[in-house]
Amino acid sequence: MSKQKIGSTSDVQEGKGKQYMVNGQSIAVFHVNGKWFAIGDKCTHRGGPLHQGEVEGTVVTCPWHAGQFDITSGQNLSPPAPSKSQTYKISAEGNELFLDI
Ligand code: FES
Repeated sequence: MSKQKIGSTSDVQEGKGKQYMVNGQSIAVFHVNGKWFAIGDKCTHRGGPLHQGEVEGTVVTCPWHAGQFDITSGQNLSPPAPSKSQTYKISAEGNELFLDI
């Protein structure tokens, strides 16, 4: 695992998701209540892009079939999402975002 700079804190609006491609993996980054979270971008149901999902509190709803995930833990919360999403350690240092991957 290595820590990589992926972008700037200004890239990700509060309450929204943004996709980053890191080492060939699609990662969804969210900014919620001043904290940063990173989970696998591909929904565990059929691969919907979670970074495009609606965010309410710490829950993101998949834009394809409305499966829901906890942004903070990757836990799947409602069907049809069959399993949790992978989580990644993300941190902000100054204006830069770093991901452990
Ligand atoms: S692809 Fe996300 S709920 Fe189906």
